[in-house]
Amino acid sequence: MYLKKISLFNYKNFSEANFEFDSKINCFVGKNGIGKTNVLDAIYHLSYGKSYFNPLAVQNIKHGEEFFVIDAEFEKNERTEQIVCSLKKGQKKILKRNGKAYDKFSDHIGFIPLVIISPADRDLIVEGSETRRKFMDSVISQLDSHYLQQLIHYQKVMNQRNALLKYFALNHTYDNDTLSIYNEQLTEFGQSIFEKRKNFIAEFIPIFNSHHHNITGSQESVQLIYESHLFENDLLTLLQQNINKDRILQYTSVGIHKDDLSFEIDSYPIKKFGSQGQQKSFLIALKLAQFEFLKKQSGVKPILLFDDIFDKLDESRVSKIIEMVNNDTFGQLFISDTHPERTETIVKSTHQSYTIFNL
Ligand SMILES: Nc1ncnc2c1ncn2[C@@H]1O[C@H](COP(=O)(O)OP(=O)(O)OP(=O)(O)O)[C@@H](O)[C@H]1O
Ligand SMILES: [Mg+2]
Repeated sequence: MYLKKISLFNYKNFSEANFEFDSKINCFVGKNGIGKTNVLDAIYHLSYGKSYFNPLAVQNIKHGEEFFVIDAEFEKNERTEQIVCSLKKGQKKILKRNGKAYDKFSDHIGFIPLVIISPADRDLIVEGSETRRKFMDSVISQLDSHYLQQLIHYQKVMNQRNALLKYFALNHTYDNDTLSIYNEQLTEFGQSIFEKRKNFIAEFIPIFNSHHHNITGSQESVQLIYESHLFENDLLTLLQQNINKDRILQYTSVGIHKDDLSFEIDSYPIKKFGSQGQQKSFLIALKLAQFEFLKKQSGVKPILLFDDIFDKLDESRVSKIIEMVNNDTFGQLFISDTHPERTETIVKSTHQSYTIFNL
């Protein structure tokens, strides 16, 4: 599978731009702020129906304009697939495959498997646990179509339970029967989500480790640890044990909505004790493990977006990644870089076909 061409209209800083791509390596080079990352983000849109960088959809429309259109052609299983993503101010975003609009964007997710590696991934390390849960959930959802539904149900029941806790506090009342119903429903969904996350992480860790060893030459000892209250006890027991606390707090203080992934280097948090290059290597290994999962699940090599990946990495780490290009581990690659010479030297060394776009 590969992206053949793309046209952008009023997308971020582009009024109109057209690109025809190499089926293997494509590089966007140019100065800061020229739009390299924006092109990658447009490609990301075609897979996920949204921006990786800006969650506010309208802000992806070029300043002063009314709409954007991203129009692209992929080659997949020897067929041409046209994917168009467009947004007009004040209207809902539209995603079309071969001229037919999707009712639900979730039906499209997975059709164009794609992984992005970007400096913005640092959020996974520095931000709160929600960012890491989202990462984990997005990978699991691609493997398990029921998973997302379970998460939605869990969230809904938890909101109802929280509303009930608030009602109790406000009205100085308490009704154990109603609360028990929510506890049971929450346990049903929560326990299953926990099992899925646990199984997923068990499978994910060895793949992550092998990528990390490969990139760093086994120089660093890093750990990826799944943390959940549910390791201590089943959710029903935990909810019952914490009822007094929950009544005071007026929200549900235990459950899979508090799960986290702990990222460590030599048993210390990588957030505080990892160098920039070490953090970056950790994140790259994480994303390459995601790549493996998507590849296994979809049967095609996902498209890889490397945004500024060569910054902060030493030569040996860069060459390890390039080796993977040569080993045919990767399919189509899109690279953004501010240094044209560096990029050219690196991609030349792969002996693969490439195109460089000077923006
Ligand atoms: N909605 C928008 N309308 C117009 N311009 C926009 C919009 N959103 C972002 N931009 C512009 O896009 C530019 C940033 O583009 P981008 O992030 O792709 O740069 P880059 O080439 O990747 O730079 P760097 O080398 O610094 O990473 C900024 O100048 C920003 O103002
Ligand atoms: Mg950029």
